[in-house]
Amino acid sequence: MKRIAILTSGGDAPGMNAAIRAVVRYGIFAGMEVMGIERGYAGLLEGKFLEMNMRSVSDIIQRGGTILRTARCLEMKTKEGQKRAVEQLKEHGIEGVIVIGGDGSFMGAKAISELGFPSIGIPGTIDNDLAYTDYTLGFDTACNTILDAINKIRDTMSSHDRVSIIEVMGRNCGDLALYAGLGGGAEVIIVPEHKIDIVRVCERLEASKQRGKHSGIVVLAEGAGKADDLAEKITARTGLSIRSTVLGHLQRGGSPSMKDRFLGTSMGVYAVQLLEKGIGNRVVGIRNNKLYDEDIVTACSMKKKFDLDLYNMASVVAR
Ligand code: ADP
Ligand code: F6P
Repeated sequence: MKRIAILTSGGDAPGMNAAIRAVVRYGIFAGMEVMGIERGYAGLLEGKFLEMNMRSVSDIIQRGGTILRTARCLEMKTKEGQKRAVEQLKEHGIEGVIVIGGDGSFMGAKAISELGFPSIGIPGTIDNDLAYTDYTLGFDTACNTILDAINKIRDTMSSHDRVSIIEVMGRNCGDLALYAGLGGGAEVIIVPEHKIDIVRVCERLEASKQRGKHSGIVVLAEGAGKADDLAEKITARTGLSIRSTVLGHLQRGGSPSMKDRFLGTSMGVYAVQLLEKGIGNRVVGIRNNKLYDEDIVTACSMKKKFDLDLYNMASVVAR
């Protein structure tokens, strides 16, 4: 392939810029022309193509967000929108497209593939909710951002003998809550994949107080409930002093961690190498620390398994 394009779609994630940089620089190194598409599928349908050169991606590896910007585009979910997306790619002389995003964005890339146009997906979402890969870009940085918040909240909770409910993102996936909760020593982790009732939550918090703890942290995944509702329920059942915090979009920003820069770069190069060999309709992933690629249709149909062993281990060690 001589002319390829790249877009970012759905929620942004730290590490997307590292991947864009790698696609552009490796693509040019491999003798290709690389076009950037602004604002995801919305920009694709509007024909917002930009010629990228070595300097277009200077000074971005350390930046969160995505320089191509992103969007959510309802029209891409329709057959007409998907056909127009392929027409736009062909009209601009593109031979293969790389899509960085989450499961929704991959559905768009799958539709493009099914219309006979080669597409490659790179997993980019802080949610880590894609089943075919152990890791999605942005997850490590977001976990570290949440950990920083937990540490700060723990300081003040300890001084006041309080319990804090910290609501984190993740959509229907509990991984952000699980990993940040484990790393932050949360006494209770609540995720959508493994229900825990309110009686058990209160028992755990009261037991840890009786064991001499001056603070309690409950990390609640947004897919499992709202922080304020939970705080109300715990207050009604216990005499504990509770505060709640919704971390919100600060979890999506920030300078990418080493892991997100490294994997963003490696996955970007891997994606271009597939197109270079004329291979499309694949998604790049990582399994057992090794990059690999999977069929896009298969990847989109896989169901993610929750790591219950890790969840149980976290609850044993945070007492
Ligand atoms: P993410 O990629 O982070 O999961 P979204 O679920 O919001 O984010 O999806 C991003 C975009 O991908 C949507 O706005 C839409 O343009 C496209 N998309 C989502 N679902 C589909 C679908 N079923 N078919 C085609 N395109 C889709
Ligand atoms: O998919 C990433 C994510 O940050 C989710 O964790 C969250 O539920 C959602 O996007 C928030 O979306 P928005 O930016 O539209 O508020």
